[in-house]
Amino acid sequence: MGKPVIKPLVVLLLSLILVSECAAIHSQKRRMGQRVKLSLEECGELEKLEAIEPDYYRIEAEGGVTESWNHTNKMLRCAGVALVRRTVKPGGLVLPSYTNAPQLMYYVQGSGIQGMTIFPSCPESFEEPEEAGQEYREQHQKVHEIRGGDIIAIPAGIGYWFYNNGDVPLVVVILLHTNNVANQLGTLPRRFYIAGNTEDEHGEGGREKSISGRNVFSGISLNLLAQVFGVRVETARKIQGPDDKRKNIVMVGGRS
Ligand SMILES: *[C@@H]1O[C@H](CO)[C@@H](O)[C@H](O)[C@H]1NC(C)=O
Repeated sequence: MGKPVIKPLVVLLLSLILVSECAAIHSQKRRMGQRVKLSLEECGELEKLEAIEPDYYRIEAEGGVTESWNHTNKMLRCAGVALVRRTVKPGGLVLPSYTNAPQLMYYVQGSGIQGMTIFPSCPESFEEPEEAGQEYREQHQKVHEIRGGDIIAIPAGIGYWFYNNGDVPLVVVILLHTNNVANQLGTLPRRFYIAGNTEDEHGEGGREKSISGRNVFSGISLNLLAQVFGVRVETARKIQGPDDKRKNIVMVGGRS
């Protein structure tokens, strides 16, 4: 069901973005000199848009599949975007991550819930308990129900997760606007997982290949991590998850 919708969708999105990008490249070039790496001449040669498949990188995880489009494709580079598709099994949870670019998420089919942090790492997002003994509550994570047909915009650097609570695969196509001025890390699409142990769906994106455990906590020493979170070293090791084979989409227990 998802497939026939995707090609026209991608072509439509690309056309829209190419049109706005061409204007943006002109004015950006004037404003920012060499920020835009592709020459206008090169992108001017693009005469028609072609449908392309997400056959660049594929991650088979416990709870679903992630496929990306080749972001070095000329059309995508000229539009300044990268694209990825996730197909999440019923009961599958896509672990929280953020990227260097603003994103548009188009839910193609299925239903689920999505959680998003509004002010990442802001201490004020945790409210003081009103009475002694009450737990701290996270106030600034928004949780929404989502279903096929929804489009969600996510600013650069905002962490989010989503979960398939339905009975059919949840399919989402995610567009990263890497050429956006909000992207401060160069033109490659880069996703940073806050949990789990997975490779980047856009390829290594210039990252070190040899690191063990590939979430944002992997590079921190176990003892420091344990101290910062106030947990035991074994728990800190679980946060880094170097031996976790489930990758970026995990099955949530408690469902039959
Ligand atoms: C990605 O596209 C480039 C051309 O833009 C091509 O040279 C390269 O082989 C492609 N990579 C994959 C893995 O398809």
